[in-house]
Amino acid sequence: MPSDEIKITLRESEMPQRWYNIQPDLPKPLSPPLHPGTGKPLGPADLAPLFPMELIKQEVTQEPWVEIPDEILRVYRIWRPSPLRRAVRLEKALGTPARIYLKDESVSPAGSHKPNTAVAQAYYNKEQGVKRIATETGAGQWGSALAFACCLFGIECMVYMVRASYEQKPYRRMLMETWGATCVPSPTEKTNAGRKINAEHPNTPGSLGIAISEAVEDAATREDTKYSLGSVLNYVLLHQTIVGLEAKEQLKLAGEKLPDVVIGCVGGGSNFAGIAFPFVKDKLKGAKMDILAIEPKSCPSLTVGSFRYDFGDTAQLTPLLKMYTLGHNFVPEPIHAGGLRYHGMAPLVSLLADQKVIEPRAYHQLSTFEAALMYARTEGMLPAPETSHALRAAIDEAVKCKQTGEAKCILVNYSGHGFFDLSAYERYLSGQLSDHEYSKEQVDAALKELPVVPEPA
Ligand SMILES: Cc1ncc(COP(=O)(O)O)c(C=O)c1O
Repeated sequence: MPSDEIKITLRESEMPQRWYNIQPDLPKPLSPPLHPGTGKPLGPADLAPLFPMELIKQEVTQEPWVEIPDEILRVYRIWRPSPLRRAVRLEKALGTPARIYLKDESVSPAGSHKPNTAVAQAYYNKEQGVKRIATETGAGQWGSALAFACCLFGIECMVYMVRASYEQKPYRRMLMETWGATCVPSPTEKTNAGRKINAEHPNTPGSLGIAISEAVEDAATREDTKYSLGSVLNYVLLHQTIVGLEAKEQLKLAGEKLPDVVIGCVGGGSNFAGIAFPFVKDKLKGAKMDILAIEPKSCPSLTVGSFRYDFGDTAQLTPLLKMYTLGHNFVPEPIHAGGLRYHGMAPLVSLLADQKVIEPRAYHQLSTFEAALMYARTEGMLPAPETSHALRAAIDEAVKCKQTGEAKCILVNYSGHGFFDLSAYERYLSGQLSDHEYSKEQVDAALKELPVVPEPA
């Protein structure tokens, strides 16, 4: 029997002490990452210039659980366990029999789920004596999360921020600088990759693919620097599973069994994986559940892209990953959900989509802002535009329940707040935003430029 509590909280002592690793439970093993030059499977030594060894081990581990070190748990306690909130006012406004629960990751210092992995990555780098970390950021959420984490662990932080977001969101840059990081608009004149793109496309809005090339080049060419990625990689998704593990306990406290629907938006796949993977474990054992990955129609990697090997960045410096991709040269329209503008998708999320364990859906920008307003005007919270994609799907699912009379339990990852996205809200409210769809023809043309990589035996 569901309780009537609105805010379901765990005590600090009830916070999970381990991350869940989905790799041993997968319906089939992941295809290995390949070396960008040779096309051969990568070994740990290939990744060592970029990442600390502990993270490289986590990338490939087949252990089902990974202990969270005490020092990370102590930092997590600044905001974790995060609340689970029942959206009773939204349910009432929709007239739905469904119960909608939001796992609120917006309460972290940086305002999103990103610190869950930023803190872990900064910790393992510090343990290995690393003095400086370079990274890229789209919406600025990841850059600010890493700036916060590096600040706590005394590491220098260099952030290449996609130019479109740098210009749309000056406050994110200021936040990074407040935590002591350096933030520059990408493409810059500081790297070979940046200079090449600037020469070819002088007015480019930038893209995550380009910013990744710059950060990887920075790290690979400096002894004192490692590279950090805020999504896509297996260990990033691993760190985020604390979200779903907590939510599972909180749903039990709320008198729920397993949710009927689990929803997260997808950029590189990490917040979705965080909420979903602990439930995918149940689904793979036979539980009935719809697990929805929501993306923008203007960057539809899972719904329109192709499942194949591609580079993670524009300059082809990163390993080749088997993933759903729109092609590494893809430069998306500067839509306001900057964190969802990535051409690829986490290999783990891609494999589960290919195996039909999870279901992708794509929405237009305007419909997601409509959902955001409905949420803000019923529940009071202002979601990030990325998060609004998940809210759109949750509202649609709840409306379906109204039509069928089913009282489903819907769990959503509320991945971040929108306080630094007010210029996007202003543009929406004054009718200046429009929809953009990236067509199948455009994707097919971009995919023709990809290398044909044979699947390793
Ligand atoms: C608030 C928010 N939600 C979701 C995302 C999407 O990223 P990912 O798919 O890696 O969780 C981002 C990325 O920056 C974000 O800032």
